[in-house]
Amino acid sequence: TYVVTENCIECKYTDCAEVCPVECFHEGPNFLVIDPAECIDCAACIPECPADAIYAEDEVPDDQKHFTALNAELTRHWPVILRKKAALPQAEEFKGKKDKLPLLRR
Ligand code: SF4
Ligand code: F3S
Repeated sequence: TYVVTENCIECKYTDCAEVCPVECFHEGPNFLVIDPAECIDCAACIPECPADAIYAEDEVPDDQKHFTALNAELTRHWPVILRKKAALPQAEEFKGKKDKLPLLRR
């Protein structure tokens, strides 16, 4: 499966959701997650993300491994997103910032 990691937080560009062929992105207030039960490992979302936030599960950086479980957990609480929408207003400011996990809203 593929995993959305920290760089998405406070950016949420949503280009990823537009290209996913199996509707596996779910949307929270300032983060998207991938449903691991639905992802078919097509990799279409990877180059679409302006924040480079998406990784194959076995390539998630060591300091972000906890995001795999977080995607699986939050996907059960958040609705599916099918189309691109405007990024968060602060997206450019937060792109590439470190340690954004405390900012995650559920
Ligand atoms: Fe969707 Fe493919 Fe990305 Fe999985 S790898 S989330 S199926 S676009
Ligand atoms: Fe997030 Fe990148 Fe998608 S910032 S919403 S994973 S395009």
